Amino acid sequence: MMNNKVLTILLIGSLLMLLAACSQNTDVSVEKDPKDTIIDNEPNEEQNNPDAEEDPVVEEEVIVLPSQELQKGDQGEEILVLQKALTKIGYEISPSKVYDLETVWAITDFQIQSDELWITGIYDEQTKLALEGFLDKESTITPGEGLPLLEEEYLDDDTVVIGNPYEVLSLVNKQHALPAEYVPSDLVIPEVRFPFVEDVPKKQMRKVAADALEKMFTDADKESLDLFAQSGYRSYERQDVLFASYVSNHGEEQANNFSARPGESEHQSGLTMDVTSPHVNYALVVEFGETEEGIWIEEHAADYGFIIRYPKGKEAITGYQYEPWHLRYVGVKAATEIMERKITLEEYIEEILTN
Ligand code: DAL
Ligand code: ZN
Repeated sequence: MMNNKVLTILLIGSLLMLLAACSQNTDVSVEKDPKDTIIDNEPNEEQNNPDAEEDPVVEEEVIVLPSQELQKGDQGEEILVLQKALTKIGYEISPSKVYDLETVWAITDFQIQSDELWITGIYDEQTKLALEGFLDKESTITPGEGLPLLEEEYLDDDTVVIGNPYEVLSLVNKQHALPAEYVPSDLVIPEVRFPFVEDVPKKQMRKVAADALEKMFTDADKESLDLFAQSGYRSYERQDVLFASYVSNHGEEQANNFSARPGESEHQSGLTMDVTSPHVNYALVVEFGETEEGIWIEEHAADYGFIIRYPKGKEAITGYQYEPWHLRYVGVKAATEIMERKITLEEYIEEILTN
C-alpha cells in the first residue's frame, strides 16, 4: 500500500508530463509548411511591392483612318495609317507611306469585295466608312478574292498587260494594254441622251463613270446645251473587228492614229464615253471641239472627273490624233490637274509615280 506522499509525487509527475506534451503539440500546429506560406503571402507581396512585375497588358492600337481622299502616288503618315488598317483586315502590304501599286490593289480588291462601293482604287469617303466597319467588327478579308494580285506582264517588247484594269487611274495606251479577257463587272447604262434608241453594249459605262456622266449631262442641260452620248464600252472582240475594218480601209499605220488595237482601247475599260451634238450631226469629228457643247466640255469636264484624253498638240505623247469627243473618267482630283495644266494622262501618271 502506497502512502499519501508517494501518491502525491506520482500525481505531480503525471501532470508535468502532460503539460510538456501539450506545449509540444502547440508548437507543431503553429509551424506552417513553407510552401503554404509563400502561396498565402503572394498577392499581398505584389500589392505592397511597387517593383513587383505586373502581367503585360497588350494595348490595342486604335487606328483613326484618314479623312481626306487618297490616291495612287500620294505619300505621308496618313498613307501609313491606311496601310496599317489594310494589314489589320488581312492584306500583306508593306508599310511604305506611299500609295503604291500594292496599296491601289488592296483598295481595289476591298472595293470589289464590298458590294456597295464604287470600284476605283482611290480611297474615298465610302471606302473609309466600309474599312471602319471592318475594323470595328474585327472582320478580315480574303485578299485577292475580288482582284488577284497580278504583276504587269509583257505582251511584246513595247507593250505590257496591266495588272489592275479596275483602277480609274490606270494607263491604257499603245504601251499599256488591258487583259484581253477583261470585262468590267459593274457596267450600267447611264441615264443620258443617245442619238439612237437600241440598248446596245456601247451605251454602257462603269458605275462610277456613269454617275459622273449623268451629273455632267444634267448640268449641261441647265446651260441649254445639246449634249449626246455616242459610244461607251466596247469589248476586246468588238474593238478587234472595228480596228480590222479601219486597217482594211486606211492601212494599219493610218488606222492606228485614230483607232486603238484590241486591248489598247480605253473603251474596253468602261471609263470612256464619246460625246457629240446635233451641231456636228452627232458625228465624232474635230469640229465638235468648236461647238458650244465642245467648248463647255473643255471647260467643265474636269469638274465631273473627266479629261479630254487626246488633246491637240499632244499626239506624240498619246499616240492618237486630237479627239475633242473622247472623255475618260479619272476622278476629279486627277482630271482637274490634267485639264488645268494642259497635260496628258501619260504625263500625270509619270509624275505621280516618280515624285
Ligand atoms: N479612238 C480611240 C483611240 C480608241 O479607239 O480607243
Ligand atoms: Zn473614243
